[in-house]
Amino acid sequence: MISLTSRVNTRTLLTPEKSSKFVCVNSESIFFAKVKQIFTESIAPLYGSQDKAINQIYESTDRTCELLLDNADDPKGILVYKNALQDEFADHGIKNSLEIKTLMVVKPKENSGKGFGRQLIERINDIATEKVSDGIHVTVSQNAEGPKTFFEHFGFKTVMEWESRYAKGVKEYLLFKSV
Ligand SMILES: CC(C)(COP(=O)(O)OP(=O)(O)OC[C@H]1O[C@@H](n2cnc3c(N)ncnc32)[C@H](O)[C@@H]1OP(=O)(O)O)[C@@H](O)C(=O)NCCC(=O)NCCS
Repeated sequence: MISLTSRVNTRTLLTPEKSSKFVCVNSESIFFAKVKQIFTESIAPLYGSQDKAINQIYESTDRTCELLLDNADDPKGILVYKNALQDEFADHGIKNSLEIKTLMVVKPKENSGKGFGRQLIERINDIATEKVSDGIHVTVSQNAEGPKTFFEHFGFKTVMEWESRYAKGVKEYLLFKSV
């Protein structure tokens, strides 16, 4: 039988001078059900079925999912990024870059404006530095209000835009920031 402690991912990173912390989540984590709930309840209504994304986090072969928890272990933010640095957009000058798959405050209506978004950005900056990446990139959709200007606030610039890459009639933007 697997003990509860062995199922908890021990990579817990306390954010200095804050009562919140980041935990890595995969199939063995006690927080996996929370991640599934966030994708189903908060992200699927914006982007459609998240079954594939949930499964990719469950397997965690090519990506890492981290949850930002408050001192009651209540999730306040979610971060998913690719483990390997990417050259997919080398033609656009984006090489050796950390790809953000998801960066979102959980229940934004309740939790936005409280500094959780900043903590997510600071965490991804730290990861980019740890991985010695040249930069960080992310794709955002016109559908989701807020993320594009949020990333721009933290120095990301639009490198490319697509008219209907993800969904017909919906603009998508490739944003990049040097590290
Ligand atoms: C966009 C989002 C990450 C912002 O998080 P937040 O917790 O409200 O941000 P914070 O309170 O930490 O704010 C940090 C700074 O960013 C600024 N900011 C917050 N949201 C912003 C926005 N939409 N545009 C521009 N700046 C923004 C704040 O004014 C603050 O500025 P400061 O430097 O003066 O302190 C959050 O609202 C969210 O996740 N929304 C859902 C968006 C979504 O659909 N994401 C899917 C993408 S995968």
